[in-house]
Amino acid sequence: MQRSVFLTGVGRGLGREIAQGFVDQGWRVFGSTNASPCDLDLAGLVTLDQADPESIAAAMAQLAETTDHLDLLINCAGVDARTFGGDPDHRGVFDFDADLLNAVLNVNVTGPMLITKATRPLLQAGTDAMIVNVSSQLGSMQVAATKGRDAGYCVSKAALNMLSVKTAAALVDDRIGVVMLHPGWVQTDMGGPSAPLTIDESAEAIVATTAALTFADSGRFIRWDGSDHPW
Ligand SMILES: NC(=O)c1ccc[n+]([C@@H]2O[C@H](COP(=O)([O-])OP(=O)(O)OC[C@H]3O[C@@H](n4cnc5c(N)ncnc54)[C@H](OP(=O)(O)O)[C@@H]3O)[C@@H](O)[C@H]2O)c1
Repeated sequence: MQRSVFLTGVGRGLGREIAQGFVDQGWRVFGSTNASPCDLDLAGLVTLDQADPESIAAAMAQLAETTDHLDLLINCAGVDARTFGGDPDHRGVFDFDADLLNAVLNVNVTGPMLITKATRPLLQAGTDAMIVNVSSQLGSMQVAATKGRDAGYCVSKAALNMLSVKTAAALVDDRIGVVMLHPGWVQTDMGGPSAPLTIDESAEAIVATTAALTFADSGRFIRWDGSDHPW
């Protein structure tokens, strides 16, 4: 039977390429954009701002009108402090004010939490359903202790990891798995041109890795290639 996936951030970057990869694999692909247009041929497209709970609720209601189930949710969209005017060279822990930190947390943590909550009934109706939260190596305590210029981003991805662990525990009875995934350092608008991985390389690996996940993987923090990432 054709499998169904909903991904956030399909207008550009990793979300767009992962969505295209699932289309190519024959999945029914639903996606969301925020500010970017989407040029992909998807089964459904909604618009939402992850910092705006009302827009998430409206978009998720629209999604539920177009599909009665999902087998996979990928929370891919995310930002760092530059999106909200953070100085590219001054994003250390003492450079944040409350508004800047909260803006990053709203998009990277609160938004995925609300999207996951709203899609739960669709995932419960799916088969061997999984949730993949696109995290970062910078959400790792071990890694971020020594690298990562943007403290707010590191905090947000660590929080997303904890949200994922708690969601995995809450969904055991539903047999819905939850995995955190570091996509690699990738040549997107966020990753920049110096990144070692192209969007195609990362997205191709992520499609293969996520399509093969099972409930036994729930709670893992993995890299794009499916290997374990340190916490
Ligand atoms: N690139 C890397 O090296 C790297 C490394 C580790 C982790 N990641 C993670 O990978 C994911 C994808 O990143 P990327 O590299 O593809 O970034 P990107 O090219 O900068 O794209 C960001 C995506 O997030 C969406 N977005 C931004 N603000 C949003 C909002 N308020 N509401 C909803 N969507 C919003 C954008 O949609 P619109 O354009 O429609 O606004 C866009 O699709 C992120 O979670 C990021 O943290 C990336």
